[in-house]
Amino acid sequence: MNQPVMEGLRLNVPAYVKHQRLIGWVAEVAALTQARDVYWCDGSQAEYDRLCTQLVNAGTFKKLNPAKRANSYLACSDPSDVARVEDRTYICSANKEDAGPTNNWMAPAEMRSLLQTGDKALFKGCMRGRTLYVVPFSMGPIGSPIAHIGVELSDSPYVAVNMRTMTRMGRAVLDVLGSDGTFVPCVHTVAAPLEAGQADVKWPCNQTKYIVHFPETREIWSYGSGYGGNALLGKKCFALRIASTMGRDQGWLAEHMLILGVTSPEGKKYHFAAAFPSACGKTNFSMLIPPAAFDGWKVTTIGDDIAWIKPAADGRLYAINPEAGYFGVAPGTNTLTNFNCMASLNQDVIFTNVALTDDGDVWWEGMTDTAPAHLIDWQGKDWTPAIAKETGAKAAHPNARFTVSAVNNPALDAEWDNPAGVPIDAFIFGGRRSTTVPLVTEARDWIEGVYMAATMGSETTAAAAGQQGVVRRDPFAMLPFMGYNMSDYFQHWLDMGAKLAAGGAALPKIYCVNWFRKGADGKFVWPGYGENMRVLKWMLDRVEGTGVGEEHAFGVTPRYQDINWNGLDFTQEQFNITTHIDKAAWGVEMKLHEELFQQLAHHLPAELPATKLKIEARLAAE
Ligand code: OXD
Ligand code: MN
Repeated sequence: MNQPVMEGLRLNVPAYVKHQRLIGWVAEVAALTQARDVYWCDGSQAEYDRLCTQLVNAGTFKKLNPAKRANSYLACSDPSDVARVEDRTYICSANKEDAGPTNNWMAPAEMRSLLQTGDKALFKGCMRGRTLYVVPFSMGPIGSPIAHIGVELSDSPYVAVNMRTMTRMGRAVLDVLGSDGTFVPCVHTVAAPLEAGQADVKWPCNQTKYIVHFPETREIWSYGSGYGGNALLGKKCFALRIASTMGRDQGWLAEHMLILGVTSPEGKKYHFAAAFPSACGKTNFSMLIPPAAFDGWKVTTIGDDIAWIKPAADGRLYAINPEAGYFGVAPGTNTLTNFNCMASLNQDVIFTNVALTDDGDVWWEGMTDTAPAHLIDWQGKDWTPAIAKETGAKAAHPNARFTVSAVNNPALDAEWDNPAGVPIDAFIFGGRRSTTVPLVTEARDWIEGVYMAATMGSETTAAAAGQQGVVRRDPFAMLPFMGYNMSDYFQHWLDMGAKLAAGGAALPKIYCVNWFRKGADGKFVWPGYGENMRVLKWMLDRVEGTGVGEEHAFGVTPRYQDINWNGLDFTQEQFNITTHIDKAAWGVEMKLHEELFQQLAHHLPAELPATKLKIEARLAAE
């Protein structure tokens, strides 16, 4: 079935591909982009190894010392291409209101002209001299009723190998797709065409970048970046932005949430889904090891970044992790902060923008107390502790990442690949706030929980290009990932709660947490990591109806004596710092909620300002 689509180009369609619409679309994109040739990924180990070797030969990958990190590679990106580019990310819905005030918007026809159809359309000829990789992938267990399929066409072999780790990728997906299955088309280019005889660079990319979503036609077009969420289109673009619109239309939720299981010594199992903004420790939380005092308790990982959640016949919400791997932030990860993660990084890893040691291993800030005496930093320069002291140069980029398969994780939940998903007992929402927000608060009801999530704020991190450490409202940790109007999304959450309640099911409880509060010395007060189990246990007691807490203006918070402190020296005074409600700070905070509500006034559900009034009345009365 080798149909020529233009002179000199064959589509190379394997005999097992039966989907004519898919073949036609690949032909169209190949013609538009003038790719040199087309390669269909089968997802095999042999293919992965071959592409990795090709990337080594091209200088994109460095093979790490197999005695230190078996079958692992290091890629260092162009310094201009190191994070998601939120200001270049567009939701091109037919109506501007449907994208809402939190998204960049352009009319679909205008964007199509810019990218595909205009005289100088950016995708015209953008893959000249490069291979177009056809990457079929399933977000979620192949064939699961909660899963959905996408096909990414990319001119980046780096994307192809990362997608094999991050998704269920290859021939098995096309088998499920059959001759007429539905898929989300995703087109990606690094936008660095090669003319005849032109030498390639290690990390091709383009200063011009567009990360574009067409929600009505469920399409993704990404131009100019080879990095992470800009390029691995199954992740943020599909599994959050496009999937959120699918969830709105079909009655389910696509969330920026980890999913973890907690098993008690008696063998009772609970599941939490927890939303945190990027680089706020979701991967660490999802792999936590309970402290020694919690002998017999076990935490297991279903997912570390994204949850797709659908109501099932029993009236409860069931979640899957649509991904098959972790694209985690490396700096700060070590055997104390995340033992399981470090164990999963021993082999079969693609590292991006970490530093290289002299013996062919990797290193990043926070991996060990003492830095190696000499490194090659992520920009290929010599790095020593003395240079770092003098210039402030980081060995690894603060948004350096690892890509590793979920099956490498020693704490992987036995049900992680269950097509039916796992039932959710509670939702957790958390931001990075050095002041104001208490350690943990339980919402009194679903609406109060939606209010907490909707008004969440967080200090920005290196995961996105731009200023870091400034508090911005990040509703549901979805600000950069919403595929439609944020207020309509709040309404969708309220509607889901109302529908589940009408069906008679007990709704998951909703919590707001903040691990990041700082003391007068500027240091984090809460010890974090494994100790978060103490907070989880209080939540479980509440789920079971045995946990005690105290009501205040925003919800219910444990008192010092309501938490198990065995084995941890954490005083009542320290606890008070993490839970203290500063009335003046909350006065300012409520003004910021008001600003958010003004920004989101179009379609803002009335329940939210009504909840705000109740909170303000309680604050005034306290
Ligand atoms: C991520 C992010 O990569 O949130 O998960 O930026
Ligand atoms: Mn994320």
